[in-house]
Amino acid sequence: MTAGDHLFIRTLVFEQAAIQLEPGREYVVESRVNALAKREGIADADTFTSQLRSAPRGPLLRKLLDAMTTNETSFFRDLHPFESLKESIIPELLKARRSEGRLHIWCGAASSGQEPYSVLMLLNEHFPEIANWDFKFLATDLSFQILNKARLGRYTQFEVNRGLPASLLVKYFTRQNGEWEISPKLRRQVEFRELNLIQDWPGMPQMDLVMLRNVLIYFEPAVKRQILERIRRVLRPGGYLILGGTETTFGIDHGFERVVVGRTTVYRNR
Ligand SMILES: C[S@@+](CC[C@H](N)C(=O)[O-])C[C@H]1O[C@@H](n2cnc3c(N)ncnc32)[C@H](O)[C@@H]1O
Repeated sequence: MTAGDHLFIRTLVFEQAAIQLEPGREYVVESRVNALAKREGIADADTFTSQLRSAPRGPLLRKLLDAMTTNETSFFRDLHPFESLKESIIPELLKARRSEGRLHIWCGAASSGQEPYSVLMLLNEHFPEIANWDFKFLATDLSFQILNKARLGRYTQFEVNRGLPASLLVKYFTRQNGEWEISPKLRRQVEFRELNLIQDWPGMPQMDLVMLRNVLIYFEPAVKRQILERIRRVLRPGGYLILGGTETTFGIDHGFERVVVGRTTVYRNR
């Protein structure tokens, strides 16, 4: 790929998904575009790029954005946020919302589903009463391919070895053709939907808990600010935002109050 091709791809990915492809890592972009071209039956990265140039808003765009996402995730990633959910956040939310019996959760960068399924296992294990609530769990991501995997809820041995306690594996998964498949009961409790955080959020209801972990890191401050401001409008009074361990609202959006819960910092509207 030429320097002009790299600039074109970098600009398009930034405009459409706010993902910053750092200059100097062109080899990563080129290898991802080459692999994508191969999957699409297109000769090589150069041909892919020239087809994309002739229809930059066509079907290849979605596939390009998809190929540029980093989907690293695992069950109960970082553990502490899940302990805080179990010990404090969920009990407090259930108490506050008991009279209306409504609890809505949104996981805004769900990747292949390990994060939403971890929360659902925690809820089913420790707060079974939510079965009788108006309970909704929305899990979204930019990448349609990774969401397809999330919807299937099938994981390799390697994936379940990363963070999933054996007791939950045997309780909530069955072994199917060498993979582990999540129980239909849990799968039915979550709606997976494609959503680009920098575009509109159509029909987004008010949320009691928003998990937006390990995705703001990819965005520049102005984009982070816009997203955080919109999240404040989505959060119900008393609702919580949980970010990734290296992410913060500090110095970006002053409308959030930082609250230390156990060993996790979480955020609430001021
Ligand atoms: C590193 S994963 C984090 C997954 C999970 N939240 C976790 O912490 O384990 C980042 C996810 O953000 C998604 N993503 C990147 N840019 C996005 C955007 N503009 N809108 C929505 N999702 C995006 C990627 O597709 C990817 O699945």
